Amino acid sequence: MTDGFVRHAGSLHADGVAVADIAAAVGTPFYCYSAGVLRAGYRRLAAAFGDLPMAIAYALKANSNLAVVGVLAREGAGADVVSEGELRRAMAAGVPADRIVFSGVGKTRQEMAAALAVGIHQLNAESLPELEALSQVAVASGVTAPVALRINPDVDAQTHAKITTGLKENKFGIDIEDAPAAFRKVRDLPGLEPVGLAVHIGSQLTDLAPYRAAYRRVADLVRALRVDGFGVPRLDLGGGLGITYRDETPPDFAAYAALVRETVGLLDCALTIEPGRALAGAAGILVASVLYIKPGHGRDFLIVDAAMNDLIRPALYDAWHDIEPVADGPATEAATYDVVGPVCETGDTFAVGRSMAAVRPGDLVAFRTAGAYAAVMASTYNARPLVPEVLTDRGRFAIVRKRPTFEETVAAETVPDWVEDGAAAPGPI
Ligand code: LLP
Repeated sequence: MTDGFVRHAGSLHADGVAVADIAAAVGTPFYCYSAGVLRAGYRRLAAAFGDLPMAIAYALKANSNLAVVGVLAREGAGADVVSEGELRRAMAAGVPADRIVFSGVGKTRQEMAAALAVGIHQLNAESLPELEALSQVAVASGVTAPVALRINPDVDAQTHAKITTGLKENKFGIDIEDAPAAFRKVRDLPGLEPVGLAVHIGSQLTDLAPYRAAYRRVADLVRALRVDGFGVPRLDLGGGLGITYRDETPPDFAAYAALVRETVGLLDCALTIEPGRALAGAAGILVASVLYIKPGHGRDFLIVDAAMNDLIRPALYDAWHDIEPVADGPATEAATYDVVGPVCETGDTFAVGRSMAAVRPGDLVAFRTAGAYAAVMASTYNARPLVPEVLTDRGRFAIVRKRPTFEETVAAETVPDWVEDGAAAPGPI
């Protein structure tokens, strides 16, 4: 039995389970995550650092399903969280609080208090007003908050504009030249303990050069802060490692690890990284059914039962996801389709002019590389319920998030009883 998403005997399998069997059991659309791929990725990443101690704080924002986090937690992963919801999910999945980092540009006081109450490893602060709020919350809670300053190194990550975070004009982090003053502020404010620096320049990076530039700047800053008498015991190097969706050639883990060693490896800092996509991206697929093939002008529309509310990356970032039939059909010919969903927007388009194996109504198709920023970004637009999520592992599968019933989707809503009938009460039409 082979781990991961592999075709054999004419159809797509996930950790040895036929994807068609899962579809028969849960219906479409659904997400399917491979524990085999999650584990193998985590182990390869951890091994790449060799004897360089490296804490891997999985960025829950990529995929916060408890089963996914649980698989990684059992491999020893910590967590990078950006909300109280993610904090609670990380802990519910078995990540100890002392391996959790709280990032994010807009933490509320309630979130700060919740993080301090569980004994979080570190909070990454991004502004002076945030430091003041955190100081007050820590004092009120009677604890000392371990704070790293997130630095904006003003480096272009050369990725999609919507997921670039390390440029001066982006909302993230404290300008690198203001960092020494901010560090002094952390030292002087009550209830805060400066523990280090954090940096994250963007996501889906396919080149090491921006990392090199950012990490060198951070290393220079560590040296300067030490001259000023600060210890800087910790460095959080962020996430962002890209993956292959189509034909990208991102740096492999070993090359990234070598770069880390070269730029910050000798600073005697405890190191953390916050990968999300690099661990979860290839570990998931979205499975849909073909509803109709609608001939259009100069194109055929392949209408599937998944839509932009389930997987928004193509609509939001023009992202590419490979699309393949789950079963090899009798037809070996290729076809070209615009692959679209049922939502009433032209943006509900997964692919334009896509060449792929020909399919027929009723066939299953899989969208690859849908483990990261996919289910977590789903909405219920068009009153479409969130789709179920399934975990596969060594020839087994389990539903790890069930499809809600209609009653569950409306359970939190009411029509107030003071809403009156209109003057013209409904009569016969
Ligand atoms: N750390 C911080 C502070 C972050 O902001 C992020 C991602 C990560 C770590 C994890 O980055 P990763 O290793 O996954 O690249 N929705 C977009 C991606 C948004 C990324 C946001 N921040 C997409 O679908 O491509």
